[in-house]
Amino acid sequence: MELRPALAVLVLLVLASCARGEDPYLYFEWNVSFVDLAPLGAPQRVIAINNQLPGPEIAVTTNNNLEINVFNSLDEPLLFTWNAVWMRRSSWQDGVLGTNCPIPPGANWTYKFQVKDQIGSGFYYPSLLMQRAAGGYGGIRIYNRAVIAVPFAPPAGDITMLIGDWYKQNHTALRGTLDAGFMIGAPDGVLINGRGPYGSYFVVEPANTYRLRISNVGISTTLNFRIEGHRMLLVETEGSYTVQNFYDSLDVHVGQSYSVIITTDQAPGDFHIVASSRFGVPVLTGLATLHYSNSPSTLGGTLPPGPDPGDVGFSFNQAWSIRWNLTAGAARPNPQGSFHYGVINVSRTIKLFNTAPMINGKQRFAVNDISYFNPDTPLKLADYYKIPGVFSLNSIPDSPYFSTPFLGTSVLNVDYHSFIEIIFQNNEEVIQSWHIDGYQFFVVGFGPGAWNDTSRLTYNLYDAVARSTTQVYPMSWTAIFMSLDNVGMWEIRSQNPARQYLGQDLYMRVYNPEEARSTETPIPSNVLRCGKAVGLN
Ligand SMILES: *[C@@H]1O[C@H](CO)[C@@H](O)[C@H](O)[C@H]1NC(C)=O
Ligand SMILES: *[C@@H]1O[C@H](CO)[C@@H](O)[C@H](O)[C@H]1NC(C)=O
Ligand SMILES: *[C@@H]1O[C@H](CO)[C@@H](O)[C@H](O)[C@H]1NC(C)=O
Ligand SMILES: *[C@@H]1O[C@H](CO)[C@@H](O)[C@H](O)[C@H]1NC(C)=O
Ligand SMILES: *[C@@H]1O[C@H](CO)[C@@H](O)[C@H](O)[C@H]1NC(C)=O
Ligand SMILES: *[C@@H]1O[C@H](CO)[C@@H](O)[C@H](O)[C@H]1NC(C)=O
Repeated sequence: MELRPALAVLVLLVLASCARGEDPYLYFEWNVSFVDLAPLGAPQRVIAINNQLPGPEIAVTTNNNLEINVFNSLDEPLLFTWNAVWMRRSSWQDGVLGTNCPIPPGANWTYKFQVKDQIGSGFYYPSLLMQRAAGGYGGIRIYNRAVIAVPFAPPAGDITMLIGDWYKQNHTALRGTLDAGFMIGAPDGVLINGRGPYGSYFVVEPANTYRLRISNVGISTTLNFRIEGHRMLLVETEGSYTVQNFYDSLDVHVGQSYSVIITTDQAPGDFHIVASSRFGVPVLTGLATLHYSNSPSTLGGTLPPGPDPGDVGFSFNQAWSIRWNLTAGAARPNPQGSFHYGVINVSRTIKLFNTAPMINGKQRFAVNDISYFNPDTPLKLADYYKIPGVFSLNSIPDSPYFSTPFLGTSVLNVDYHSFIEIIFQNNEEVIQSWHIDGYQFFVVGFGPGAWNDTSRLTYNLYDAVARSTTQVYPMSWTAIFMSLDNVGMWEIRSQNPARQYLGQDLYMRVYNPEEARSTETPIPSNVLRCGKAVGLN
């Protein structure tokens, strides 16, 4: 969405000449500011980057080095985080309150990171203060290096579709509701690429294939995505190539990303693109148009049918059907399946129970009875400078005591190179979506009710998909396996920013006792220092 074309020229994408053997550097300049838009009819203030919503696409190749200079022209602090980019060896660049001091209003800060050994699709968004409810998001795509085969024929086009629920209230008003101790109500609509009904129009050529990169950038709502007259071949999720199955519709939970291939094999026409809400009433519907370039027609009257909005079983079964393609290579030539996660012994099991307690008369959200409280000093800086009194290790138990909920700064201490199991237990009636920074994890099982030891008999130990965000169905559990090969301070967060803002959040410190330089990048030369880290160096 170009608002003021004259100003939208800040995206510098310079391929620097680089020393032989060094991976290329790409430079971006982002000016982040409020603009007035009316995605659902009424004008409201949204966050734009270089006057665009969605913000500029980050389109890069495996191992590229990125430098993204962010100018904060908001009147609030700002950080961006990079969903489904796993920041190899550098939680310094993760852009969340546990790792970075916020960029103050009027200041700029340059993120510097390498997309080491990764491919696939994700998105970035502003991670603080409910700002995601005001937009500020954009797509990320990481292409395979030319020497690595992609497990499908090159598509004629590659289209980003950022779908998400949307509130007519601005994010400061939503935040005010949360601060006052109340949960925000239901959203008002669903946007596709920042636009309301039929505001996005995608032109395709007939008799071709297109890759669609679909991410749910919304707040709380699972969306069922479908296109009239076109089945979708699922090929990728958050950096993993999947077994290629056709779907009529796809449930995309909050914070998740998928790539599908569609074939434009229908008679010339215009087709409805639909993203409709699941598991709640009223049903909200985001709409856009798929237009064949030779189409003489306008849209017809019928929307493609989706699953019953309340049908959780459909979603469960679909989730089970999404598998890793063991023979496809991803960022490297060796097949994904050469990592046999199913035969590695688990050294620690961590059970994370989400709850929605009242604390001091206010609505909060908690994990293992602790509602996360952000200290003024980022955990990463406190760890680096050994500043006492910011957090303590293992300040969250490996399973809940079912004690009186309280506010705390939860940090799990886990061993570098260990292999762990995490059970997300959701005893609420509301679907959850959990993300872990710095990692892809194996989603080995989903099940109804309370997880117990025998639930392990149902795990997929063979071709579970590796990804960075998983759903946890209402009154159900999800189990994941993780190989802790990335040193750093990594956030485990609810992908619902309201729940995260009110405490469904914690960090995992992956520590290498040898502190070998090779396992973590040094502290950035431009690091911002705040809280108790002010003045240290
Ligand atoms: C960023 O955009 C704002 C609003 O358009 C403008 O006032 C400001 O000068 C811009 N800053 C930079 C660094 O380009
Ligand atoms: C802010 O931007 C300038 C270029 O305009 C750059 O030289 C400087 O390094 C940036 N500051 C930080 C802290 O990244
Ligand atoms: C945000 O919404 C609140 C409540 O409707 C309103 O009072 C406020 O002026 C809005 N802020 C902006 C900057 O539009
Ligand atoms: C898995 O990927 C390979 C490419 O390595 C491809 O040929 C094959 O069709 C894919 N298998 C499935 C079941 O999608
Ligand atoms: C896993 O544990 C079992 C039983 O404790 C042991 O026999 C086996 O060798 C271990 N496997 C690996 C790969 O360490
Ligand atoms: C353990 O969980 C399984 C399903 O995951 C369930 O069938 C079984 O009844 C549970 N066992 C106990 C003792 O709760």
